[in-house]
Amino acid sequence: MPISGTGNFPRVLSGSRCSMSAVVWSLVGFLLVLHMYSRFSNINAVNGDIQLRMSNHPLVHELEQVEKENIQIPHRKGKRSPRAAKRRPKRTTTLIDEFLDENSQLRHVFFPDMKTAVNPIKDSGNDSYHYHPGRIWLDTEGNPIQAHGGGMLYDERSNTYYWYGEYKDGPTYHAHKKGAARVDIIGVGCYSSKDLWTWKNEGIVLAAEETNETHDLHKSNVLERPKVIYNENTGKYVMWMHIDDANYTKAAVGIAISDYPTGPFDYLRSQRPHGYDSRDMTIFKDDDGVAYLIYSSEDNSELHIGPLTEDYLDVKPEMQRILVGQHREAPALFKYQGTYYMITSGCTGWAPNEALAHAAESIMGPWETMGNPCIGGNKMFRLATFFAQSTFVIPLPGIPGSYIFMADRWNPADLRDSRYVWLPLIVGGPADRPFEFNFGFPLWPRVSIYWHRKWRLPLSWRASK
Ligand code: GAL
Repeated sequence: MPISGTGNFPRVLSGSRCSMSAVVWSLVGFLLVLHMYSRFSNINAVNGDIQLRMSNHPLVHELEQVEKENIQIPHRKGKRSPRAAKRRPKRTTTLIDEFLDENSQLRHVFFPDMKTAVNPIKDSGNDSYHYHPGRIWLDTEGNPIQAHGGGMLYDERSNTYYWYGEYKDGPTYHAHKKGAARVDIIGVGCYSSKDLWTWKNEGIVLAAEETNETHDLHKSNVLERPKVIYNENTGKYVMWMHIDDANYTKAAVGIAISDYPTGPFDYLRSQRPHGYDSRDMTIFKDDDGVAYLIYSSEDNSELHIGPLTEDYLDVKPEMQRILVGQHREAPALFKYQGTYYMITSGCTGWAPNEALAHAAESIMGPWETMGNPCIGGNKMFRLATFFAQSTFVIPLPGIPGSYIFMADRWNPADLRDSRYVWLPLIVGGPADRPFEFNFGFPLWPRVSIYWHRKWRLPLSWRASK
């Protein structure tokens, strides 16, 4: 029996007119239901304060408890100076003003003193393995960890974590009246750990240049956000970092190399990647071994991303502009189930601002902005990324969708006393801001960073180390 052919076509069409309209109406109905669902999940996200977001993974229930902060802004005694009153008429004091005020009565909330320091060598029993975001964190010798703007390398050859960051244990000063607060370059600090809590100081693995003023690493310059990855082909550890002059006009990346994770690293050179200015940056090594450089460019108005060469010592010519016109910096990338995610900050120097989460199907873009990932604390905590700025996201193998969000709580009055804010980051649940052209329902799962005064990784994760 002929079932196809042009002769049959009109009959088939007319015969199914009724079912076609049923299909169309079911589709409309389906989209409406999805839209309602999306509205509902957005309302839930807005009320994120009172909602417990439970993922399916039992290990992370504790990490997903929403913890509130109820901090009252103290009444200022006496009148504000006429200059201050003129500068900001009628503006009420916000928590960010308090945070930036060295004499604030809340100083101890943001920068708890040495008495509360986390000391993994002594803090045993109930306190062991607990992260206390914002408290001073001591290494195994009892000194505050100096690894700001840092990044983490998990070295599979030694089953060890290496934390690299800016070693800032020097005086803070302003090179010029209008210049940003700075500390002379001392070098890149490196700490090692098996449990991500107890850190041994491995020393300065890339040191400042003391005498040669023309050298990129001369102490009067800027070295920020060092990140290290391992190259399987060459067997070398490769470090990329932001290199600048005191006025941030050089805007370049520097590259260094070592045979060992603990250095010493040999400094190779600096460059403006793809010929563009480059300030805050990071590198990301994908599962297939291809590594990428991501940097704020065009005066921080956009990010650029491009693959590194096979030896990780240079960029390839290929580059994409992403998050154009969004003015984001402090990028921290991670990948979950084939999707790429990134957390960024706004551009307000050492002052905290609102984090945003972004996602992409392909690392080269397009990247979509999803919204503020912060949950808990209070509104100001969430709008100020818990008074910290992103620097890295550490995957936690064995707990799918779970990461540690690493951030810096900068202390511009005394940069060496900047603190670390480590918090659980969980991927799951619907996104909190619908994108255009997607009928209002999320394309990607939500990225959530949960505020905790005190928290620790699940016991089973620690036991597996
Ligand atoms: C921030 C940046 C930091 C540092 C600081 C200097 O915007 O993220 O790494 O460069 O500015 O003011």
